[in-house]
Formats: sequence, C-alpha cells, structure tokens
Amino acid sequence: MSSHPRPQVIETVAGMRDVVAHERAAGRTIALTPTLGALHQGHLAHVERAAELADVRIVSIFVNPTQFGANEDLDKYPRTMDEDLDMLGEMGVPYVFAPSVEEMYPKGPTSTTISAGQIGTMFEGKTRPGHFDGVLTVVAKLLAITSPQFVTFGQKDAQQLFLVRRMITDLNIPVQLEIIETVREEDGLALSSRNQFLDAHQREAASILSTALNAATSAADSGLDAVIAAAQGALMGESGVELDYFTVVDTDTFMPVPDGYRGPAVALVAARVGETRLIDNATLYVG
Ligand code: PAF
Repeated sequence: MSSHPRPQVIETVAGMRDVVAHERAAGRTIALTPTLGALHQGHLAHVERAAELADVRIVSIFVNPTQFGANEDLDKYPRTMDEDLDMLGEMGVPYVFAPSVEEMYPKGPTSTTISAGQIGTMFEGKTRPGHFDGVLTVVAKLLAITSPQFVTFGQKDAQQLFLVRRMITDLNIPVQLEIIETVREEDGLALSSRNQFLDAHQREAASILSTALNAATSAADSGLDAVIAAAQGALMGESGVELDYFTVVDTDTFMPVPDGYRGPAVALVAARVGETRLIDNATLYVG
C-alpha cells in the first residue's frame, strides 16, 4: 500500500459531472486518460503528460464490455483496481472515474452507436468485429461525461488512435487529442496489459514484433518491397509466434499503401503468441 493519497474514485455519471462542473467553475482545465485499468508504465506516461497539459487529471478505468467480442477475454481481462489506485496516487492523480457496467449502460448496450466505418472492419477490426464501434461509442460517452480540454491516446494502438482522431474531427468534439509514444521493455516489447499472460518462453519470443518493425524501419529507404521483406524475414525466424498480419498503411487514410508507394506510413503488426494476441506498429517514411 502506497503512502500517497489515493485518487477520489467516482462511480456515477452524475458524480463525475459534479466534479467536472466544480473544477471548471474554478477555472481549471481537465485532461482525460481513458483506460481499461491493469495499469502499467505505458499508462503512467499518459498521466505524466496530462499533468503538463491540464490543471486536473481524470483517469477512467472501465472494462468496456461492448468492445469485447463474444469469444474474447472480457472475463479474463486483468482487473487490478487496488494497484491501479496506488499507482495513480503516487502520480498525484486526483480523480478516477470507475463506473459499473450498469452505470454506463443502464439499458444494456446503447441503441445509438458510433460506427468506425470501413477502417473499423480492417486489421484489428477483422479479427474483432464490432470492437472499434464499441471503443468509439464508449470514448464518445467518456468525453461527454468529463468534457475535458485534452484527451490522451497511445500510439501503441495505432488503429484505435486513427479512428478516435477521425471521430473527434468528424463530430467536431471540442477536445485536443494528445498522442503518447509507446513505452517499451528493454528488448523492445511494447508494454501492454496482455503481456502478463505470456509465460517466460512466450515473453522472449514476443520481442520479435518490435524486432520486425525495427527491421522494416531500417529498410524504409530502400522502398516498400524491402520493408515488407525485412519484416517478414524477421518474423519467419521465430517459432511460437503466429503472424496475423504485417501491413503498411497510409498515415492519412489508414488504407494499405499501393505497390511502389513512397511517403509517410505506419507499419502494423499483429501476432498470436500462445493464446495472447499482441499488436505493435512503427511510423516510417518509405523512400
Ligand atoms: O485503449 C483502451 O484502453 C480502450 O480501448 C479505451 C480507449 C479505454 C476504451 O475503452
């Protein structure tokens, strides 16, 4: 148990709105960091940055059922509220919004949902149908409840980041999106709450994702074919890692780039390591 005071935990929408109204009336700005909990250093980079952006930080901890598919790990998703509150207390975060499912969805899943459109059905959305509609809908709700001036999202979930940014633009949501760089282990593995499901052997194998992305980035000057060959070469060498996709998308449209493409891009990789699905990405300039 930490010696720092824990954040105030607010469990109701009305309670959260009261806090926001109070802080805003006092002229303070607000930054929201939405999370599923099971916090790690990657999340702490968000709250650290949020402290530079705004007077008041709110971290939401809500394992949103509408973004999990029927055969996904909703029940297995790690829930570590005590540890999360200790960590956020140490970071000086004053408020945690931690509603129940009934509080967020009193009548069951909302009849109104935000569609992530075509990009929402690709890559992660192909394996997880409806996932991004669930994400966008809950993010819109969280923004409406906390009306922050700033919201932080991680580069680690590049597709989610793209779709949230587009939603904010498309719906004229008055919030500034702050992108937080991916925090990595020493061997390059991107921090994720799912890493805790890896056993020692799988954990070692998992670093191949960032190795492949590094190889892709190093090859970028030599063109798209070289990028793909470099990543595939690295990924093929690792047994126990089942590649789902490696693809290069246009930064602006998130659509796969055409043959011969030159310009800014994001390389995406997703793979299954044992039962655990991992994703990572790197921004690069294809020459
Ligand atoms: O990235 C996440 O942790 C979740 O998708 C989010 C943004 C908190 C929405 O539930």
